[in-house]
Amino acid sequence: MKLYLDSGEIAEFRKAAATGLLDGATTNPSLIAKSGRPAREVLREVCELVRGPVSAEVIATEATAMASEGRTLRQIAENIVVKVPLTHEGLKACKTLTSEGHPVNVTLCFTAVQAMLAAKMGATYVSPFVGRLDDRSEDGMEVVSEMRQIFDNYGFETEILVASVRHPIHVKRAALLGADIATMPYATFEKLVEHPLTDKGLADFLKDWEKGKK
Ligand code: G3P
Repeated sequence: MKLYLDSGEIAEFRKAAATGLLDGATTNPSLIAKSGRPAREVLREVCELVRGPVSAEVIATEATAMASEGRTLRQIAENIVVKVPLTHEGLKACKTLTSEGHPVNVTLCFTAVQAMLAAKMGATYVSPFVGRLDDRSEDGMEVVSEMRQIFDNYGFETEILVASVRHPIHVKRAALLGADIATMPYATFEKLVEHPLTDKGLADFLKDWEKGKK
């Protein structure tokens, strides 16, 4: 199970990369805008900090313009993945870009049928937004489960990149379902390692060790 950071903040990428657990990164226009910095600058720095794939989203909405913007984004660094929305235009751009050898992440996916369309168009990754589905009282993980089954039924190699992750239980369920990747905010990434009994157990061991030395 690969773990990605979903952010636009360089400091967060630096901290996550330092753990040795980070496999890649995703960004989106909202996250980049929140950083208040020029997109290309942020992306270039993220690509230097993160060894794995870094998704950078296009702003264009028409297929030819998306493909052209995608090619430009790919010039930033070798590990850039072009992110396109799950629309007819985005799917056409996906087909064009992947046929030219560019990796593509099809984003804003909310149903297994949408995911199947992205896979048919040769997407490298497809991103179901589980948290946003849960927010609407739909079951985000059910979509992931259906996607896994459909991709396995037909041998689609598109990787399932679970996005809009809100807590470690999303990560656990994604892993149990055989999703390839989970991308998450830094606050969730940090929580993956935490358990109060780990902290208490360690504090007790150290206290006992000190006592034993006397
Ligand atoms: O980057 C895409 C996705 O992970 C956004 O998540 O929390 O805005 O629903 P969220």
